[in-house]
Amino acid sequence: TFTPRVFSGIQPSGGLTLGNYLGAMKRFVDMQEAGTHETVYCMVDLHAITVWQDPDKLRRATRELCAGFIAAGIDPAKSILFNQSAVPEHAQLAWIFNCVARMGWMQRMTQWKDKAGKNAQNASLGLFAYPALMAADILIYHATHVPVGEDQKQHLELTRDVAIKFNHDYGVDFFPVTEPVIEGAATRVMSFRDGTKKMSKSDPSDASRINMTDDADTIAKKIRKAKTDPEALPSEVKGLEERPEARNLVNIYAGLSGLTVDQVLADVGGKQFSEFKPMLSELAVAKLAPISTEMARLMQEQDEIDKILAQGAGQAREIAAPILKKTYEIVGM
Ligand code: ADP
Ligand code: NA
Repeated sequence: TFTPRVFSGIQPSGGLTLGNYLGAMKRFVDMQEAGTHETVYCMVDLHAITVWQDPDKLRRATRELCAGFIAAGIDPAKSILFNQSAVPEHAQLAWIFNCVARMGWMQRMTQWKDKAGKNAQNASLGLFAYPALMAADILIYHATHVPVGEDQKQHLELTRDVAIKFNHDYGVDFFPVTEPVIEGAATRVMSFRDGTKKMSKSDPSDASRINMTDDADTIAKKIRKAKTDPEALPSEVKGLEERPEARNLVNIYAGLSGLTVDQVLADVGGKQFSEFKPMLSELAVAKLAPISTEMARLMQEQDEIDKILAQGAGQAREIAAPILKKTYEIVGM
């Protein structure tokens, strides 16, 4: 009985990477274009400040992320696009969920363990509670589907647990049990320097990733220098086992081209990396250059961006406000 609705978000905590694009943004666009769901996408600035952000940089990163969404194909006429902090219902529902979720659930989150590291006593309370805010982001829209990269799987399981526990504690069938959508060849894009680590904007090595703002020469150079092995490409997927760097480049090719890994290997099996890497560079530049050009143009059109975000926040609140009101009633407020 829930309207099929997609929600997802990206943190404005630095530049966008190819990992964010293939694992998240490109798939947001695909779901928008499929037209089977109402699509709601958000820049999650409240999540970004769980670790300290320079205010001016945060403002700029938020603008740049918005430009990235639009340049990648998010159409404000088809999707709702806004800033998390402009819709206070996210934080309001998050408080309720802080009272539903258990300490033990949070302590098990691998992202918490990774990010807080050995100095957990000095991490922010917000970083610890991050997954409860994420559950609120999703459930304040009664979203049924959430496209994300592989690294967010555990947080989405927690979102399901929050919905189930809330419904159970209050004897209602109010929040949907959300389905993660982790599909396609590039749900976990890996670092170019180390095939066991995910490609990330926070990696100190710029050569480890492609940034959405990199120019053609930089993209080609990073791909040329990406770590690989000396063997030729296999013609079947099982030939990529135990070859994480090779597998990563093939996955990226598949993600960018829209082909399956099998289709890519049917085509390039037997080739050496010296031949495959230029093919990958050409494809990456063809797909990414128009996006970075459009991002740069939009960064000069601040009014246009602000108008889109204000409109998106208004649309988002129309959905979120009644759901928050009903939640308060259920809880006894
Ligand atoms: P980051 O992980 O880069 O700090 P976010 O946490 O804001 O960025 O993640 C935004 C989206 O991008 C999430 O859906 C996440 O799963 C996805 N994502 C991030 N890095 C990768 C990657 N290397 N490969 C695939 N998807 C990724
Ligand atoms: Na992430």
